[in-house]
Amino acid sequence: MADLHPQPAVQPASGPQATTPRRRRFLTEALAVVIGGFVMVFPFAAGLAPFFDPLRRTTGGGKHVRVTPLDALPDDGLPHPFTITADMTDAWTLLPNEPIGRVYLIRKQGTQTVRALSAICPHLGCMVGYDAAHELFRCPCHTSAFDLDGTRRLDISKVPPRNMDSLTCKVENGEVWVDYLNFKTGLEKQVPRA
Ligand code: FES
Repeated sequence: MADLHPQPAVQPASGPQATTPRRRRFLTEALAVVIGGFVMVFPFAAGLAPFFDPLRRTTGGGKHVRVTPLDALPDDGLPHPFTITADMTDAWTLLPNEPIGRVYLIRKQGTQTVRALSAICPHLGCMVGYDAAHELFRCPCHTSAFDLDGTRRLDISKVPPRNMDSLTCKVENGEVWVDYLNFKTGLEKQVPRA
């Protein structure tokens, strides 16, 4: 017998009530993709940053540097200049033995005791030279002068704000090592450069 009250066929839902769950699911999935992307990309980008930033260089500050065999340093109590070199890196390249500074080494007469003075003038950063005739250090820029122990000679020029910068130095296995640091100029106190 024919059904006189046929049930309406089930139609796919439509309208605002039907699209809300679908839209919600789509938004949830999209959000998951975005968050997952961030989680993946941030560490990756952080790891790559040093390679893409050429200004992230290894500086010469605070380096423990082998300067010379002790035998090559006369034990005459006089200053002898040495260039400080160290391996440097920039974003893409290793630069071996790059000059990063200059020091005077003074070996006490008849001993293995060595003292190191930075050759950078504490006034404004010119290179201090050694005046052997007068046994003085002199800076050519503003006529500063320093005794052999680095003490400023204010009777010659009053511009240096402090004595020459003394550097930590030691003799190890017949080699002279210096903790090389650059200091800010124009200050009364020794302040290492960052
Ligand atoms: S920089 Fe040396 S005296 Fe001025």
